[in-house]
Amino acid sequence: MINKVNIVCFSPTKTSEKISKIIAQGSGIKVSKDLNITHREENYTADKDELTIFAFPVYGGRIPEIAIQRLKKITGNNSPAVLVVVYGNRHYDDALLELQNIVYDQGFKSIAGAAFIGEHSYSTNEYPIAIGRPDKEDIDKALSFGNNIGNLIKNNDTIKELPNLPGKYPYKERSPQPLISPVTIDSKCIKCTTCVTLCPTGAIQIKDMPETNPSLCILCCACIKGCPSNARLNTNDFVLQKQQWLLKNCVTRKEPETFEI
Ligand SMILES: Cc1cc2nc3c(=O)[nH]c(=O)nc-3n(C[C@H](O)[C@H](O)[C@H](O)COP(=O)(O)O)c2cc1C
Repeated sequence: MINKVNIVCFSPTKTSEKISKIIAQGSGIKVSKDLNITHREENYTADKDELTIFAFPVYGGRIPEIAIQRLKKITGNNSPAVLVVVYGNRHYDDALLELQNIVYDQGFKSIAGAAFIGEHSYSTNEYPIAIGRPDKEDIDKALSFGNNIGNLIKNNDTIKELPNLPGKYPYKERSPQPLISPVTIDSKCIKCTTCVTLCPTGAIQIKDMPETNPSLCILCCACIKGCPSNARLNTNDFVLQKQQWLLKNCVTRKEPETFEI
């Protein structure tokens, strides 16, 4: 009998984290382990009486590589899992299928899946993309998805495994990221070190000012969205071109999708 929920998330700008917590709340099952792997690895093996909710952002239609490395420290022991990807209103492409396959290899049985929409990491006031998502409607959908999962678990001793989730294999190729990173506006920086704490890859160090190692930066924008004095921003053409493209092509609201047995 499943009576505990674990949450495993990688969530630099916290939209995946938010959705996973709401789904857990909707299930009505007590949260046992909060395994947030955004900033570190966690070694854990789930028990047979635990349900694990996995929530990850979509980067280039895939699960971010660093998140996969950390995910591989968590094993399932044939326990059930719910798979959630959160994307910035473009598309999730192969990320949900990729997550399903990784989690399967780690010994979990996937029983439900979902793709939700979160404010795009590259969204700014000038280039608003899915701003404010997840919003009230998304939250209601996440609660009701969670509630369905709770009922599924209550009413079935053996739960069937989900068929393949949407996506293609071989997955979409990862496009190489140029050696760039957000910069600091010196006159605004108060050296509070929030950016250092928020960076999931340890790419930022405070020297005289915060300095970012571009070979570690994954452009997640946690340092930009979380800076209390708005001192971090992207000034590179790479992100600018993406922002312009997204604003032209991805403003029509997309809705969450859920996949249940
Ligand atoms: C490097 C990078 C690549 C991204 N690629 C996609 C994508 O392929 N499709 C999409 O819709 N959103 C994409 N996004 C947006 C994120 O998926 C979205 O903002 C998500 O809500 C971030 O999750 P988090 O708040 O949990 O970090 C990308 C964001 C980043 C930083």
